Amino acid sequence: MHRPRRLRRSPALRNLVRETQLSAHDFILPLFVSEKLKQRRPIASMPGVFQLSLKEIVDEAQRAQDLGLQAVLLFGIPEHKDEQASGAYVETGIVQKALRAIKAKCPDLVTITDVCLCEYMSHGHCGVTRIDGDHFHVLNDETIELLVKTALSHAATGADMVAPSDMMDGRIGAIREALDTNGFDQTGIMSYAAKFASAFYGPFREAAESPPQFGDRRSYQMDYANADEALREVALDIDEGADIVMVKPALPYLDILWRMHQRFGKPTAVYHVSGEYAMIKAAAEKGIVDERAAVLEVMTALKRAGADIIVTYWACELAKWVSE
Ligand code: PBG
Repeated sequence: MHRPRRLRRSPALRNLVRETQLSAHDFILPLFVSEKLKQRRPIASMPGVFQLSLKEIVDEAQRAQDLGLQAVLLFGIPEHKDEQASGAYVETGIVQKALRAIKAKCPDLVTITDVCLCEYMSHGHCGVTRIDGDHFHVLNDETIELLVKTALSHAATGADMVAPSDMMDGRIGAIREALDTNGFDQTGIMSYAAKFASAFYGPFREAAESPPQFGDRRSYQMDYANADEALREVALDIDEGADIVMVKPALPYLDILWRMHQRFGKPTAVYHVSGEYAMIKAAAEKGIVDERAAVLEVMTALKRAGADIIVTYWACELAKWVSE
């Protein structure tokens, strides 16, 4: 019997046997564009993340591309909200404007759009709601109609891929069919297939101005106690035509990520969400952890667990760090 050699003695030896390598192509940068702003507005709990004006988002997209990133994920904050989320699908909507402007300047950058209604609804829920006494319901099929309109409008304005994040049942199939019958068969779908009702979305709701005005999202987002159910949701979305399937949040769900990737072998994405970002930032600001080391460790763990694509607010920094 030979004694196993542990090839860790020098950086070169460690590199030689390193199983997981990060590259700028792994990351997607989320960007927030606000119809109300002329100048960027910081998000208090997410240092380094901003709501951007239309002009600024184009510059930011260009900067991301110059750093070696290939894709951005767009979220819009409309001037007016209503109970039909009309800002999500009008031709003059803020995301539609941003898409046109980004595509004009960076035609090769992959543009992915969040397809959800919460930012556009006066009540902040992800769908059309009905209130019966003390209870409210999100109406699945009525919501899907609006999501389809939104996805079509994004595709028509140049989105390379749409990313439905609402968690209504059957929306992937409905969106796929509508895209295909309207000539957008080349537009991809990245589905938030396993999206858990999570405490880690808190800062995002400030960033996207979308906190629910009543109730919470547990009736349509997944119970974090359930893994088999998550896999069933993913299987459904794949059957309905999802090109990329996503799990969200990231670090507390590595088991789901691993099982998704093992079982389906589909391009698998993970969203390292706002609360996960804010925690490391806060700890780093207090000198408790080294930001760069912690972030590289987390991102490597996500990739090791099966992520082909990582959505992260650190995408620009990561693009620099992994090329040094
Ligand atoms: C819904 C949506 C949310 C996030 C992305 N899309 C919020 C939610 O479901 O409440 C969260 C992303 C993050 O926390 O970084 N449109």
